[in-house]
Amino acid sequence: MKIFLTGKLPDIAFELLDKSKIDYDFHKKDTPISRKRLLEEAGKCDALVCILTEQIDKEVIDSMERCKIIANYAVGYDNIDVAYAKKKNIIVTNTPDVLTDSTADIALSLILITSRRLIEGSEYLRERKFKTWKPELFLGMELKNKTLGIIGAGRIGTAVGVRANAFGTKIIYHSNHRNNELEKIAKAKKVSIQNLLSNSDIISINLPLNKSTYHYINNSKIKLMKRHPILINTSRGDLIDEKALIKYLKKDHFRAVGFDVFKNEPFVNPELLRFKNVFILPHLGSATNEARSGMAELAVKNVISVLKGKPPLTPVN
Ligand code: DGY
Repeated sequence: MKIFLTGKLPDIAFELLDKSKIDYDFHKKDTPISRKRLLEEAGKCDALVCILTEQIDKEVIDSMERCKIIANYAVGYDNIDVAYAKKKNIIVTNTPDVLTDSTADIALSLILITSRRLIEGSEYLRERKFKTWKPELFLGMELKNKTLGIIGAGRIGTAVGVRANAFGTKIIYHSNHRNNELEKIAKAKKVSIQNLLSNSDIISINLPLNKSTYHYINNSKIKLMKRHPILINTSRGDLIDEKALIKYLKKDHFRAVGFDVFKNEPFVNPELLRFKNVFILPHLGSATNEARSGMAELAVKNVISVLKGKPPLTPVN
């Protein structure tokens, strides 16, 4: 039996693999694996551990002759054709829970960066422009008594709400399900999407990306937002129609935008970077030692479990 990993994961992955005595190999370079090698390796492995930059589409799945499990090294699995894998009897797993806190921390960081204009202030200082303290230098917005609207109140959305509640922020959320935890801990209120958009000072998108959420934030939803909201996205870039966003940024509609994810990563739309109130990070949501090791452990435990004839720990199909 053979496991193939499309990238080098934190050490814990290799410790577990060595202990399992199952043969494995991995893509060792720092650059993403080529499509050709991915297809070759997918064709001869019994389990594939993949990174979110790899598109595991019909072609890759069709090349799999004996693969039993695709373990995504991410909680989001929009890079995998999960339905097709299911049709081919291949299990797909993800890495929930272990990155909830680190991703919620990044959302809160973006909220603080944007509401308090921290990057602008830091750049101003680096450019040696800070000559004297002034009563109105880089005035921002306090979080206390402002309204945070969370779209998609799953694990990460909940953790964002709980954190923001500690700042005295009012929390409203829009979700298919009632979230008792968020309501109890963060005194959050479930509202319609229209209500959320028109009442939120800060909007945090915490949805999974799929066919129904592609370009969820579009022209018509932006039109419903109250004037000068802060828009935060730590989920997936394709949830936002960036063309519509840019149109409204030009109209000075947003107080600020804070993204950890964007369309066509890593190629950020240069137009977005022209706005002084847009702050974009290179997809750092789960970039902590704790989260990335937790993800590695979970992904590898999923494949070992399935290859030893046991059920996967965190299946998505
Ligand atoms: C995920 O796990 O989906 C994240 O985007 C990785 O940081």
